[in-house]
Amino acid sequence: MAEPGNADQIAFWNGQVGEKWAGNHNQLDHAFAPLTASLLRHVGAQPGEAVIDVGCGCGDLTLALARSLGADGRVLAVDVSSPMLAQARARAALQTPGTIAPIEWVLEDASVYALPKAEFDVITSRFGVMFFADPVAAFTNLRRALKPGGRVVMLCWRPMDQNPWFSVPRASVLPLVPTPEPMPPGAPGPFGFADSDRVLSILTEAGFSDARAEKLDADLTLAQSPTGSDVDALAAATQFSVQTGPVGSLLREASEETIAAARVAIKAALRPHLGDGRVVLGAGCWIYTATAAELTPSR
Ligand SMILES: C[S@@+](CC[C@H](N)C(=O)[O-])C[C@H]1O[C@@H](n2cnc3c(N)ncnc32)[C@H](O)[C@@H]1O
Repeated sequence: MAEPGNADQIAFWNGQVGEKWAGNHNQLDHAFAPLTASLLRHVGAQPGEAVIDVGCGCGDLTLALARSLGADGRVLAVDVSSPMLAQARARAALQTPGTIAPIEWVLEDASVYALPKAEFDVITSRFGVMFFADPVAAFTNLRRALKPGGRVVMLCWRPMDQNPWFSVPRASVLPLVPTPEPMPPGAPGPFGFADSDRVLSILTEAGFSDARAEKLDADLTLAQSPTGSDVDALAAATQFSVQTGPVGSLLREASEETIAAARVAIKAALRPHLGDGRVVLGAGCWIYTATAAELTPSR
């Protein structure tokens, strides 16, 4: 079952984009590693706890959680993307059984999926909660899965201009492609939860208490050459930008010539961020936290 308003996002994450994320998850997970480490510290998962990973994608956070929860813990990982979830399941199958928390992978729309009521200690997400057409309804549904006093801890992007890893390659390609439609503020998408006042209101309206937003900044390594070669690192970072994120979307309909020109433009834009065989750019995120209040019959 899916919320009809989420149909476009579900198609998006099951199309080319989902396939590309599934194919490039190693590079994405490597780039996001400092953010993931910080998110895990904020989650503070305790052995034996039960955790939901919303929009788990290819399962990098899910597996890290399952390791820290241990065999007595429990993870429910939910996502709408079939190719990404297939990748996540394949990675989980490589783990030694009995060493990590059991993971239940669910291919469903988290905003309406009938989660077990009041069974989980934590709901978390690495960039998987900004795509709901009706976020208040989605977080009301998610909250009901938390035990009273359970917590939500999620990582979301701040606005694009505070994310050079995203905006620098994107700006270099914009002159080469038709001008994209501006996204209305708060529309489902990577920057849908960039406005912290709005997100804190959503969480409060969905029945959470003590909603807070904390800034998290980090340097992301878009590519690193194992031999320390700047040439290789720049080529890999360019490929990463073309394959995923904003530039991937901008080039989805582009001709071979435009893609070739985009590669030249991206390389030039990323060169100032190159050194010691690595391409490094800044990222700006929010860590949102809130607590599930006691359940009342009406909520
Ligand atoms: C930006 S990706 C992040 C994936 C993963 N958490 C990571 O950090 O690599 C966003 C994820 O949210 C998922 N997603 C989008 N809408 C969803 C929904 N309504 N229910 C569950 N997952 C959803 C997408 O399929 C995708 O895997």
